[in-house]
Amino acid sequence: MSMDDLDHAAIDAAARALEQGELVAFPTETVYGLGADAENPLAVAAIYAAKGRPQDHPVIVHLAPDAPLDYWATDIPQEAHALAAAFWPGPLTLILKRALSIPAAVSGGQDTVGLRCPSHPVAIALLRAFKAGRGGIAAPSANKFGAVSPTLAQHVRDEFSADGSVAMVLDGGASQVGIESTIVDLSRLATHGPVLLRPGHVSAEAIAAVIDQLPRAPDAAAPRASGTLESHYAPHTPVAMQDSDTLRRTLAQLDGAGRKVALIHYSEMPSTHAALRLPATPAGFAHALYAALRAMDGHGADVILVEAPPQGGDWNGVNDRLRRAAHGSTGIVHGLLNQGPVA
Ligand code: TXA
Ligand code: MG
Repeated sequence: MSMDDLDHAAIDAAARALEQGELVAFPTETVYGLGADAENPLAVAAIYAAKGRPQDHPVIVHLAPDAPLDYWATDIPQEAHALAAAFWPGPLTLILKRALSIPAAVSGGQDTVGLRCPSHPVAIALLRAFKAGRGGIAAPSANKFGAVSPTLAQHVRDEFSADGSVAMVLDGGASQVGIESTIVDLSRLATHGPVLLRPGHVSAEAIAAVIDQLPRAPDAAAPRASGTLESHYAPHTPVAMQDSDTLRRTLAQLDGAGRKVALIHYSEMPSTHAALRLPATPAGFAHALYAALRAMDGHGADVILVEAPPQGGDWNGVNDRLRRAAHGSTGIVHGLLNQGPVA
């Protein structure tokens, strides 16, 4: 989508709605966001209410390109400027110390703030139209709490059109990256180094190439992040991940037991009840993953079987989301095979 294709009337209407304290869903290159004026605590509270999300979970503040970081954050390390210069606009969120003038509501009361400049042209146009480019749009992913993140405007409409909480949904087509932004915490850099709170398209190695330090996994004292809850991004149907060979055997066994399987895979597999084959690359798999989980969730299957992707740097974001989608479903395949014949 180019700048010329933008629906400027809709974007201006959305900016005015945000300025009035209303909620607007908008496309980003990662997933769709549910936006509100980051400096309006009532509007931010409305996001939590619409999502059914606990009030103490911080949300990311989205900024227009070249917005001054020091309006939002304080004690900003040089590494933050370097990462912003390298990856913005793009799928990287920086956690920094929150400026005193910024309402605590956006960070769930924590003394930090999450900042990101998205690269989707509709998001950029909206950020430039909102408060003449000087505002910030607080936006979590535009899904109900715990559900799969939306990568199409229709996903957002499906979940929110009934309750009237969202004033507008801007349509920007399918989100290109497809999984949420990488989050790196720089708020305690001097004492703790950079911390990778959520893996994503921007890998830890790519971050290390810019700041000469490999971000490490969070310890127990790290700030809470809802995207880091064990069970998250979960469809209603149980999800099980298996390596390719195990999966082929499981498919045959479940078929034999009369079970309905929905399959998400990337290599050659025997045909089954419902299946989607995704590209065998980290970027291609991530792009298609959430729409695939939603589609397979609609088949009334007993289980969604996912062919486990390879391990390693560029696959970390995808593997992280799949692990969370499958959380709580341990033993599901065994259970289905040992429940006896289907009545
Ligand atoms: O790609 C994305 O990041 C998308 C799009 C819309 O930008 N947004 C997104 O938002 O995934 P959400 O709310 O679903 O996840 C934001 C994550 C949460 O895990 C939240 O806890 C964390 O960012 N986060 C935000 N501000 C934070 C802060 N100050 N400290 C620690 N974690 C923070
Ligand atoms: Mg989310």
